[in-house]
Amino acid sequence: MTRKKTRPFPELLDVVASRLKPPLCFALGSPREVVDLLASHGDADTTSFQFDLYQADRIRTEAAELDLPASIECKPDLWDLPNFQTVVFPVSLGGERALKLDIIEQAYHVLAPGGVFVVLSPYEKDDFFAPALKKVFGRVHAPMEGGNNVFWCQREGERQRRRHEMTFHVRVDEETSYSFTSRPGVFSYGRFDFGARAMCEAMEIPENARVADLGCGVGTNGILAARRAGQGGSIAFVDSNVRAIALTELNAHALGVPNFETFATPTVAGPTDGTFDVVLANPPYIAQMTVARLFMDASHRLLKKGGTFYLVTKQIEAVNPLMEETYGSCEIFENRGYYIFVATR
Ligand SMILES: C[S@@+](CC[C@H](N)C(=O)[O-])C[C@H]1O[C@@H](n2cnc3c(N)ncnc32)[C@H](O)[C@@H]1O
Repeated sequence: MTRKKTRPFPELLDVVASRLKPPLCFALGSPREVVDLLASHGDADTTSFQFDLYQADRIRTEAAELDLPASIECKPDLWDLPNFQTVVFPVSLGGERALKLDIIEQAYHVLAPGGVFVVLSPYEKDDFFAPALKKVFGRVHAPMEGGNNVFWCQREGERQRRRHEMTFHVRVDEETSYSFTSRPGVFSYGRFDFGARAMCEAMEIPENARVADLGCGVGTNGILAARRAGQGGSIAFVDSNVRAIALTELNAHALGVPNFETFATPTVAGPTDGTFDVVLANPPYIAQMTVARLFMDASHRLLKKGGTFYLVTKQIEAVNPLMEETYGSCEIFENRGYYIFVATR
């Protein structure tokens, strides 16, 4: 695989323009790329599919500014949408292998019979997609002369749905281990994150506590907290990724969490302010700490007076001033190479 961005995606899609038929769906892709594709190849019958509400909102806003008539859909699975004649997958540079396989599989099932799946690869020489597509679709076409970063296939016949997912186990005491289902496109696919583990070992959860898990992923941290809070406890799980929320619900039900609510939101909207004893966060430290700041501010308004906020990071220098700004002084513990900030409202 040559890691080099080649021609812009709208130009790559021109190569297969004669194959594109409405209704068309762009499956995932960064907001910038999707908006460019909508501008060049979209019409009223075009859908942009995303897992993340924040990304979806960005696409919706930019598309509206440019008067592009697309519908933007956020669902846990692509195959939850009605059938399309064409699905286009604008692949992210450095994207997760398992997610690519999952989208290939789900695209097959969301296509109408005879429908066409197009892959736009950011790699100059892509050796991943041809064999992976062949396994699901049978025949693969690579129409670019001198390069192979556009592929198309046609849905023919039938095949059984194959879900890409991995289960991982977390030991909670001598006799018990919890089993969590994870799927591609959600943080820490197939494993319990080390930072999350470090925070869960440090957290103190009073009996009957009301806990909020901000950016819950597949729900590990809140579910481990629920176990300690007992039958009288309750958990609010929050995430902007609707697949993460679906997995959290699946895991919380399977593990018998007695009282929980989920909130699919990019702004931590929904849980009631001033009602939580504990808030947990293992934020993504991206985009100049925007999400970390969002979680810090939200934790402060969600907590009761005297409630506790736990946040895990490796970036102590960058996080410390932000935590002090929100909470004044905090305690910091080191565990497993991570820093756990503990602040009291
Ligand atoms: C580093 S992961 C942590 C997941 C899980 N809590 C764990 O510890 O394994 C951060 C999570 O925050 C979510 N997230 C990112 N931006 C968000 C936002 N604006 N609002 C809510 N959740 C967000 C991501 O979807 C992801 O699931």
